[in-house]
Amino acid sequence: MGGEKAKNSSLREPFLNELSPVDSVAGLEELRVRYLGKKGLLTSELKSLGGLPPDERRAAGAVLNETKEFIEQALAQRKQELKDLELRRKLASESIDVTLPGSYVQPGRIHPLTQTLEEITDVFVSMGFSVEEGPEVELDYYNFEALNIPKEHPAREMQDTFYVSNDIVLRTHTSPVQIRVMQRKSPPLKFIAPGKVYRCDADISHTPMFHQIEGLMVGEDITFSHLKAVLESFLHRIFSPDVPVRFRPSYFPFTEPSAEVDIGCIFCKGTGCRTCKGSGWIEILGAGMVNPHVFEMVGYDPKKYSGFAFGMGIERIAMLKYSIDDIRLFYENDIRFLGQF
Ligand code: DAH
Repeated sequence: MGGEKAKNSSLREPFLNELSPVDSVAGLEELRVRYLGKKGLLTSELKSLGGLPPDERRAAGAVLNETKEFIEQALAQRKQELKDLELRRKLASESIDVTLPGSYVQPGRIHPLTQTLEEITDVFVSMGFSVEEGPEVELDYYNFEALNIPKEHPAREMQDTFYVSNDIVLRTHTSPVQIRVMQRKSPPLKFIAPGKVYRCDADISHTPMFHQIEGLMVGEDITFSHLKAVLESFLHRIFSPDVPVRFRPSYFPFTEPSAEVDIGCIFCKGTGCRTCKGSGWIEILGAGMVNPHVFEMVGYDPKKYSGFAFGMGIERIAMLKYSIDDIRLFYENDIRFLGQF
């Protein structure tokens, strides 16, 4: 029995010593091969059993088999431990603290001016108008000359112009797009032309850059009635179906006759308030019948064709629609302001 005991511990102990520092599944496999592989330590002892006398062989065989089972179990147990350890490490490194505050991504909004522009555009497109564009850096010729505003004309003083050079300006209105389109196309045509315009002016209701929408409709037999119908239905759709609309005689060099178009004050319903300066009316846009001189400038026959034009500021309409009292708010990009629309 003493011999059996010695045999037993002679492999168990070195095995346990070798097992204890193993820290990977690959290391375990190496150890298994060292003991239980074809040429393993325990395997060769099993092989050598054949050389023992039969009565010793039986006892020694039992001990070896027990040791083999012991080693197999110890390897399996350690393998499981290593797997658990690895899983715990992985979980720890990937853990998420669900109590931490989340990172909130604020959804974007469409700028109130863009919303207003899109709304205005939709109304005119629904009436069959197309959309045109022109350059913001414009020739003096298109911005003034071809619109019947010659060099010495007093109307030029109405515009605080940014000059780029003697004959190049930042356009002061979207009206030059009228000329560019009429030069390119022949009548009939009806379009709007939205875009940025520039004037040397800054206060609570003026910024050096702002936006306008120009409109032009040209054909045979276009009359002031068409102008009235188009602008009235536009204003009814943008403000409200029952808002009063008024045409006041006015002057623009590129239209004759010209009108200033007002709506009944949407704040006081016409009784008079601060916004309408007590008048009960709010000026919205300028308009008129295209001046025959303008047609001549683009080579249209003024005896054959007539048309109307109009122009409006987008900021002004957005300010009225959303009750905004300072134009500069549009350009400060304060999220607290922009998030309200
Ligand atoms: N261009 C004018 C302005 O900037 C607005 C305007 C008035 C445009 C009358 C027109 C018009 O087409 O007919 O103040």
